Amino acid sequence: TPRYRVTVVGSGNWGSVAAKLIASNTVKLPIFHDEVRMWVFEEILPGGEKLSKAINQTNENVKYLPGIKLGKNVIADPDLENAVKEANMLVFVTPHQFVAGICKRLVGKIKPNTEAISLIKGMEVKTEGPCMISKLITDMLGINCCVLMGANIANEIAVEKFSEATIGYRQDKEFAQRWARLFCTPYFLVSVVQDVEGVELCGTLKNVVAIAAGLVDGMNMGNNTKAAIMRIGLREMRALSKLLFPSVRDSTFFESCGVADLITTCLGGRNRKVAEAFAKSDGKRSFDELEAELLGGQKLQGVSTAKEVYEILSHRGWQAVFPLFTTVHEICIGQLPSSAIVEYNRAH
Ligand code: NAD
Ligand code: 13P
Repeated sequence: TPRYRVTVVGSGNWGSVAAKLIASNTVKLPIFHDEVRMWVFEEILPGGEKLSKAINQTNENVKYLPGIKLGKNVIADPDLENAVKEANMLVFVTPHQFVAGICKRLVGKIKPNTEAISLIKGMEVKTEGPCMISKLITDMLGINCCVLMGANIANEIAVEKFSEATIGYRQDKEFAQRWARLFCTPYFLVSVVQDVEGVELCGTLKNVVAIAAGLVDGMNMGNNTKAAIMRIGLREMRALSKLLFPSVRDSTFFESCGVADLITTCLGGRNRKVAEAFAKSDGKRSFDELEAELLGGQKLQGVSTAKEVYEILSHRGWQAVFPLFTTVHEICIGQLPSSAIVEYNRAH
């Protein structure tokens, strides 16, 4: 039987770690072809060299994951069409705002019977309502798409510290289990649940709560306040997920993709870090400016997700039911001061 060929579409901080995890398995497991292609959004490094070339020469993503060997079987490829043309398993892992553009370029370019998985935390909002990224991939490319989410700060997994993750699937458990084999290592344990929307909404909505947690840190409000914000945020995550997709299961919130991802992101994530700096600047600096200054080219997802959630809430008249989500957006756009993150709660 032919072996499965994997391409990773994306090569940021998590994308590079995902390629490393996958490559460590494809060399061991005979059902997969050894080589892992990784599509690189080409950039010119400060020394004038191309990023893709530097990755292939050093076996490291010198910009987004310096100091970590990816595995000799990871091949960086700046040509998107070429990178996917042999693959029958596609791993999507880019900031969510770029996915629609990437998929548009892939229409008609992928092999029949290709399967996909999305590691992307985010959604698109269309006139008819929210469209999760896995759905966007399925709709644009006509392929099945699972999701993988969890308490997965990439830099910690890069140095092989133990963590867990959750794969969500719609119908075909066999696909989900094959994805689990591709990702599972002794330090990265993957479980599989039949709740694709629940898993993906957990990963997406927690980024908005992480912004709130960072604001609280920036105002030195202490652990109790931060825990309160996380609890209220988790409650809003569950309520909104179930309103949007009644099939979402309560049990999903107890998987790694739920409460565990919320905790790790609120403690150590990039959304938290930038929101803390925003609150410390007393609203004088913008999120865009701080993102560029603090993250070295990596991208925040929480600010745009807060806006997307706000559009859904205002369209449906649900703002009053989701005061934390609503307030985060109003703080991000400068309509309210950071302190509003706790004041709204006193008022409710
Ligand atoms: P990142 O934040 O490091 O993003 C930067 C990437 O975007 C780079 O590869 C850059 O080349 C690329 N890029 C910039 N402009 C682009 C464009 N116009 N078109 C296409 N690509 C462009 O990326 P990441 O950390 O791999 O995040 C990808 C997804 O994974 C996000 O949804 C994120 O929430 C999620 N995630 C990240 C982590 C983490 O710890 N980093 C953990 C779990 C999930
Ligand atoms: P940040 O994007 O806030 O760093 O969160 C990373 C993450 O999703 C961990 O699971």
